[in-house]
Amino acid sequence: MYNEKVNDLLKEVKELFKDVNTKKELEDIKNNYMGKNGKITELQKLIKEIPNEEKRDFGMKVNEVKDLFNNEYNKLFESINLKEINDLLESERIDITLPSKKIKRGTLHPMTRIEEEFEDIFSSMGYTVYDGPEIESDENCFQKLNIPKGHPARDAQDTFYLKDEYEKFLIRSQTSTAQVRAMEENKEKGPLRIVCPGKVYRRDEDATHSHQFMQIEGLVIDKDISMADLKGTLELFCKKILGEKTKVRFRPSYFPFTEPSVEVDVTCFKCGGKGCNLCKQTGWIEVLGAGMVHPNVLEMCGYDSKKYQGFAFGTGMDRFAMFKYGIPDIRTIYGNDIRFLNQFDRKDED
Ligand code: DAH
Repeated sequence: MYNEKVNDLLKEVKELFKDVNTKKELEDIKNNYMGKNGKITELQKLIKEIPNEEKRDFGMKVNEVKDLFNNEYNKLFESINLKEINDLLESERIDITLPSKKIKRGTLHPMTRIEEEFEDIFSSMGYTVYDGPEIESDENCFQKLNIPKGHPARDAQDTFYLKDEYEKFLIRSQTSTAQVRAMEENKEKGPLRIVCPGKVYRRDEDATHSHQFMQIEGLVIDKDISMADLKGTLELFCKKILGEKTKVRFRPSYFPFTEPSVEVDVTCFKCGGKGCNLCKQTGWIEVLGAGMVHPNVLEMCGYDSKKYQGFAFGTGMDRFAMFKYGIPDIRTIYGNDIRFLNQFDRKDED
């Protein structure tokens, strides 16, 4: 009778796992057979009632049922588990051939861009970039540049003075102040080759003038420097920044800190020199002021003007940006309107 029970259960267990597909079904089966009141557990409990001589046989048979159950259970559990993992992998599969989401990058401000262009060109010619402060003394901004108090050249550069007793400090109206600083800082009083880009301030405000704008100043000091060096350098620079076809002309001019002084014109980049509204039908556009450093300036900054000469130049970087990138109103450069700035996306470099 006992044997029959075990044999029946053995048959049952053999068929038990046939149509099982889920872990839940497996768990139910485990409870029904191996749980506290499970069929196999109940069978084991019978051992107490069995006559001694049959115990051994019965025990072995029960173990056979248990082993079969455990083997089948483990096999199926593993295959269901594997299938679940594979299904998951399949459903969460990543298609690495899809193009990635575009990351929105910011853009360089047009002034940063033009400043980098200036710096690249001048560093390729051996210049170092010199940084000067925006708050300056009247001395550095004017007096040591040969513009004493009361000089009419001050009118064109009326700027903002800081509130101090003697009106000693101001926010610089020109980056030419860098000339004074660089020459004074150079203890050996030897050769110099610098460009100084930066913000300057004046009391102006219209479509082509802003109270704050950006200039770049250049200064070369050495022995035997002549007007030919000035011409060659600025001609090369204009062609590099505006294109090889650009023609350059030098007109006599006046700046207190240079003698002789010139203004530099380039052929209009819009019409190529034919005449248009941008160049006011002249074919030329003025882009730089320059000249040979005035001996007074050299001496005031501690240089022996008999031994050393130099040339200097200065220009508004905003002007170059306006011409080069076709910006009609200088105020948009400083307005930070995102629709304006987005137009300077470096698509060509993506
Ligand atoms: N600082 C002058 C200005 O703001 C520009 C300039 C002209 C700079 C001639 C120079 C120069 O160094 O030689 O108008």
